[in-house]
Amino acid sequence: MTTERTLTVDEARRFYDRMGARQDWNRFYEDPAVEVVLRHGDFEHAHSVVEFGCGTGRLAERLLDSHLPPDARYLGLDVSTTMVSLASERLKRFGERSEVRQTKGAPRIEAPDQSFDRFVSTYVFDLLSRTDIGAVVAEAYRVLTPGGRLCAVSLTHGRTWFGRSVSKTWQSIWSLSPATLGGCRPIELPGFIDTARFEISHLEVVSSYGLSSEAIVASKR
Ligand SMILES: C[S@@+](CC[C@H](N)C(=O)[O-])C[C@H]1O[C@@H](n2cnc3c(N)ncnc32)[C@H](O)[C@@H]1O
Repeated sequence: MTTERTLTVDEARRFYDRMGARQDWNRFYEDPAVEVVLRHGDFEHAHSVVEFGCGTGRLAERLLDSHLPPDARYLGLDVSTTMVSLASERLKRFGERSEVRQTKGAPRIEAPDQSFDRFVSTYVFDLLSRTDIGAVVAEAYRVLTPGGRLCAVSLTHGRTWFGRSVSKTWQSIWSLSPATLGGCRPIELPGFIDTARFEISHLEVVSSYGLSSEAIVASKR
């Protein structure tokens, strides 16, 4: 396997501190895949959600406004100071239902075992090293209650001729300069999900403007 040069935590923090609200411009290709986890994550029956890499808090706002029951609580984690302040501002109208915390970027969730019933992460696994992806999935397993759901979206390799060409071009640019693309490259998420620990209930590749994303919902056994 070739060595991958993913962004360091400091590089990721600097990039997303600069990126700020422009992250939401990516909604044109991100939203269709995020819709899939919203449809299949059964958020209407969730009580406690943690999001790893919450960005500007856009997904959290949608969850709190339209999907989660009124007594459900949300915790957003992000390494970027800018993202944490944008998300905190956006979510402040939800009062005690939501909390946003800045982390040091470690693949660790500062929370007791089995303290959430949904673990959400969209377009973050694809910028982490393979070791850190595995570590975050292991943390998801630890903090989820039995039956709790891991709901994740990441860039993936295209499945059609056009999609494959786009992801090959993306991968080439990323190999030269990961920061140009915010550190994100196509990955295959199911390869990181241990099926002895999780049961994958939904897996879908969604293509938008030639970019392919993989949406996965998996329940903790
Ligand atoms: C591509 S953005 C996606 C943001 C949001 N989830 C979305 O879908 O719009 C990646 C986010 O992950 C955050 N991030 C990157 N590395 C991280 C780490 N090691 N721990 C926590 N957050 C991280 C970035 O600051 C950024 O907000």
